[in-house]
Amino acid sequence: MEIFLKIFLINQLLNKKQVLKKMKNKSKWFNDARFGMFIHWGIYSIPAQGEWVRFFNDISKEDYDNLATKFNPGKFNPVQWAKIAKNAGMLYVVFTTKHSDGFCMYDSKYTDFKITNTPYGKDITRELIEAFRAENIKIGFYHSLVDWRHPHYIPDMEHPDGKNGETSFPDRDLNIYRDYLYKQVEQLLTDYGKIDLLFFDYTSKYKTSSEWKAEKLLKLVYSLQPEILVNDRLSYEKTPIFYGDYCTPEISLPNQQPIINGKFVDWETCMTMNDNWGYHATDKAFKSSNTIIRSLIHCASMNGNLLLNVGPDALGEIPSESIKILEEVGEWIKKYGETIYQTHASKYTPPVGCYYTSKNEKTIYLHLVNPLMGDLILPELNGKVKRITVMNDDSEVPLITFWGTELLKNDELRIRPPKYLSKQTIDVLKIELK
Ligand code: GLC
Repeated sequence: MEIFLKIFLINQLLNKKQVLKKMKNKSKWFNDARFGMFIHWGIYSIPAQGEWVRFFNDISKEDYDNLATKFNPGKFNPVQWAKIAKNAGMLYVVFTTKHSDGFCMYDSKYTDFKITNTPYGKDITRELIEAFRAENIKIGFYHSLVDWRHPHYIPDMEHPDGKNGETSFPDRDLNIYRDYLYKQVEQLLTDYGKIDLLFFDYTSKYKTSSEWKAEKLLKLVYSLQPEILVNDRLSYEKTPIFYGDYCTPEISLPNQQPIINGKFVDWETCMTMNDNWGYHATDKAFKSSNTIIRSLIHCASMNGNLLLNVGPDALGEIPSESIKILEEVGEWIKKYGETIYQTHASKYTPPVGCYYTSKNEKTIYLHLVNPLMGDLILPELNGKVKRITVMNDDSEVPLITFWGTELLKNDELRIRPPKYLSKQTIDVLKIELK
C-alpha cells in the first residue's frame, strides 16, 4: 500500500515538473525574439484620427458603419509589409483582428460587420498571416474584448453609449455577448492554422475578469492552441490570479522586469512610433530610430520584448516615416542582432547611462546609448574580464590600470573606449569574461 502511494506521489511530481517544463519551452521563442511588429488597422483609418475616433468624435453607429461601405485599400501589399518587418529584424507580428469598434478584419461567421462585406471583399487577416508566415514570422492575433457595436456588450465610461454616465441597459444580456466573444475566438483559433500568440484587449477598471469568465475563456484558447501565449489583459488586477502568460506594459519602459505573485514574469512593452496606434493623418510626432533602438535595448536588458506599432492608412500603406524608421532599425539589427536576440539580463550592474545584455555566463554586451564623455567605469568587473572589443571593428578596448584608480572602488574596472563611438548611432562593446 505504502509503496503504491509513493509511486503515485512521485508520478504526480514528475507530471507537474513536465507541465512546468513544457510551459517554459512554450515561451522560449518569445523570449528569444525580443522584437515584434504590432499592426493597428481597421476602417478607422478612413477618418484617420486613431482607432478611438468613434468614441472621441461622437460618431453615431450609423455613420461609423458607413465607413465599412468605403473601405477598399487598393495598395495593400502584405508581402511588402512582411518584408518590411523581416528587414527590421522583427520576429513576430500582432494584428488587430477586431478592435473596440467591433469591426472584424477577418471573415467572421458571426457578424456582417466585417472585411469581406466591404468593397475590398477579401479576408485581410488571412492574406496578411500567409505573407508573414512565408517570412518565418510568428503570428499573433490582437482581439478586442471590448465591443462598442455588439448590442449585448454592457457599456461603461469607455463606451460611446456609456461615456456620459448612463448605467442602465436593461435590454442588454452579457451572456449573449460572451457567447459571441467565445465563438469569435474559437473561429480565429481554428480556421487560421497555428497561432503563436493572442493579445486580448482589455479589461478596464470598470470591468473584472468575470465579465469574460476569464478562466473558461483561457481553457478554450489553450484547448484549441496548446502552445499559444496569451497576454495579461483578461483581468485588470494581476493578483492573486494571473490570467495568461506574459505582461504587457504600454508606451512605457519599466525600471525592472515585472514581478507578479513573487515571480519574475515574461513581458513585452507595446509602443507607438508617433502618438497613435491607428493611422492618424496629422500626427507627425515620430520618434527617431535611435530612440526605438534604445527602447529595444532597454527591454532586452530586462528580459523583455518590444512590440513596435505601425498604423497603415486607408489605402493599405504603412506611413513612409514608419518605413524609414524600420529600415534604420533594421540596419542596426543587422550589425548588432546578436546583442539582442537570445539574450537575457546580465547579473552585473552597467555603468550609469549604459545597458547590458548577456548571452551566457561569459559574454556581456555593453550598449553605449549615449555619446561617450570619457572613460567608462564598470562596476563589479575588476579582475573578471578577459577582453573587451568594439563590435564595429573588433578592436580591443584598453583596460586602464595606470591612472585614475584613486576614484575607483576595488570591484570597479576603468576602460577607455574610442571617443568616436556612439556619436550618431548606438555602438556596442563586447565584454568577454574569464
Ligand atoms: C491602448 C489604446 C488601444 C490600443 C492599445 C494597444 O490601450 O487605447 O486602442 O489598441 O493601447 O495596447
